[in-house]
Amino acid sequence: MSLFRTKNIESMLDVSEHDGLRKVLGPMDLVLMGIGAIIGTGIFVLTGTGALTAGPALTVSFVIAAMACGFAALCYAEFASAIPVSGSIYTYSYATLGEIIAWMIGWDLLLEYGLATSAVSVGWSGYFQSLIAGFGLHLPAAITAAPGSVPGVHTLVNLPAILIMLAITWVVSYGVRESARLNNVMVAIKIAVVLMFIVVGVWHVKPANWQPFAPFGLTGIFNAAALVFFAFIGFDAVTSAAEEVRNPGRDMPIGIIGSLAVCTILYVAVAAIMTGIVPFMKFEGVDHPVSLALQYAGQNWVAGFVDLGAILGMTTVILVMTYGQTRIIFAMSRDGLLPEALSAVHPVHATPFTATWMVGIVFGAIAGFVPLNVLAELINIGTLSAFTLISIATLVLRRTQPHLPRTFRCPGVPVVPLLSVAFCLFLMAHLQKLTWIAFLCWLALGLVIYFAYSRRNAVLHNHGGDAQG
Ligand code: ALA
Repeated sequence: MSLFRTKNIESMLDVSEHDGLRKVLGPMDLVLMGIGAIIGTGIFVLTGTGALTAGPALTVSFVIAAMACGFAALCYAEFASAIPVSGSIYTYSYATLGEIIAWMIGWDLLLEYGLATSAVSVGWSGYFQSLIAGFGLHLPAAITAAPGSVPGVHTLVNLPAILIMLAITWVVSYGVRESARLNNVMVAIKIAVVLMFIVVGVWHVKPANWQPFAPFGLTGIFNAAALVFFAFIGFDAVTSAAEEVRNPGRDMPIGIIGSLAVCTILYVAVAAIMTGIVPFMKFEGVDHPVSLALQYAGQNWVAGFVDLGAILGMTTVILVMTYGQTRIIFAMSRDGLLPEALSAVHPVHATPFTATWMVGIVFGAIAGFVPLNVLAELINIGTLSAFTLISIATLVLRRTQPHLPRTFRCPGVPVVPLLSVAFCLFLMAHLQKLTWIAFLCWLALGLVIYFAYSRRNAVLHNHGGDAQG
């Protein structure tokens, strides 16, 4: 019995076609879903630290991070068009690289999406509190943050973070069509706010602020790229919707590449304008850099809109990430690698109800009680390793299944997937040592669970029919 047994692609497509989730999503839903997951904490919060790390050359850092994502996105698009089943890259690797790699990727994605929802809920709570403070409302300090996260202040729980997680969980468990509708409205407002920032801010740019352009040299640019990579995470969540799309072969590539392209243009523009309005040193200790730039330009009322847009922006990130997370758990459970109850579909809502509430409660609790200020890098390393593997898997699938119908083919194979691997490994090398240690611990825990539970309970183990490896 091999650790590298693979699932049969035809039988996966068959299960998804006949017993899968309801097919209700179209191409526009997917592009908006991608943008929903992408624009959030990264641009509204992390750009301040990014500007301090790279200076005005932050724009270049964004382009580097976008290139890493772009190459990986092309690989994702090929897979999503060829194997449109729930579970994203986890499922793709089960079909190509083998069970243990698929398990590790799924485990990795749980870290990425789970912690991302918790971390973004904490960012949401911060912006929410600052918005209501504008109306003179202040929450009691004890319920504003996780214990130990604010030096010198006695805090017990981040209640707004828990409440937003639970509210989103309710929406996601209620139905995918409802979630997509709510997402579309909030994403439209979020894009409008970013465009408003660009249109108003551009008139206040002083080119002198772009000098010196790269005060910390290439190292600063690369370190900032590894950090702001976080701002692009999310386009991959689109692939987890594959099973609920009406015409996945055509629409998945549009959703993945379209949302990434739109966000890259917006990010580079925002970074250029922000650093053009405010001398970059002034972002020290600032957690709302985008609205600060507008305040600096004397545009306080637009700054207020940006705060509101940031809140909605983060709401959609939590929504889509929670959604993606539940679909991956659903797929892993359907394959027997996680307990069966997690793939039960609700008879009325047609959603994986138990898995959704489990995700909401666990990661809501983490958001409420664990100080999460430094989690972005851990989420990045999990995602970058997943991107590396999907790029390798693209090459493997071309060799092992050359005739599998693909409505979208990644151009320039093998160069593009190899460039994706190179970019991702390069960015991973620029992350801190502590991040690496935490990541390796997480992978070790995953291996223990695999050998103690998943390997023996896998559907492939019990039926063996599809095993090839
Ligand atoms: N890209 C998402 C964000 O920036 C995770 O919030």
